[in-house]
Amino acid sequence: MENHKILVVYFSRPDENYNVGTVETGNTEILAKKLAESLNADIFAIVPEKPYPTDYQGCIAVATDERDQDARPAYIGEIDNWSEYDTIFLGYPIWWGDLPMIVYTFIENHDFTGKTVFPFNTHEGSGNAGTYDTLKEKLNGATVSGDGFNISGIKARTEDGVAKIIDWASQQKW
Ligand SMILES: Cc1cc2nc3c(=O)[nH]c(=O)nc-3n(C[C@H](O)[C@H](O)[C@H](O)COP(=O)(O)O)c2cc1C
Repeated sequence: MENHKILVVYFSRPDENYNVGTVETGNTEILAKKLAESLNADIFAIVPEKPYPTDYQGCIAVATDERDQDARPAYIGEIDNWSEYDTIFLGYPIWWGDLPMIVYTFIENHDFTGKTVFPFNTHEGSGNAGTYDTLKEKLNGATVSGDGFNISGIKARTEDGVAKIIDWASQQKW
């Protein structure tokens, strides 16, 4: 792990969400930040140009439209030194049994050739929902670890949840 230049990339939404009420920091974001700290990695948040509605039902409606239209919502900012990273930890919530559409925007905008990718995600029952396989298909040219990490959003917010992802990351060999 010491010889790698690692970037943690994540999408996460704060505000009102299923099971957790209204939160200032999204479930995946909590894990992403702790993970970056523990790996001594850089971090990049995929922040939507157009923020999602703060209420859960409103967000559900927008996410449904995005999925139905196979949309590619825009995000803010860019990573200047993308080519310098050989390892990407990619974090996201499950939305409708899939990656949020904005994560597709991100992965389609970047060349992952030669990189090692470790997916991690939060959910409320769907596990990884087949997204690790999707990433393997989409990111051909990269090595996507099948041994990703997933946890429920509510558990991601606990000390135990944070300890679990740090433990998982520390066990990866590449
Ligand atoms: C639009 C939307 C769709 C969701 N779809 C699913 C789903 O299909 N399966 C699931 O287990 N959880 C689903 N969830 C729950 C989220 O995956 C879960 O709350 C996650 O921890 C949110 O992470 P975040 O706080 O980092 O955004 C959905 C949540 C939202 C807002």
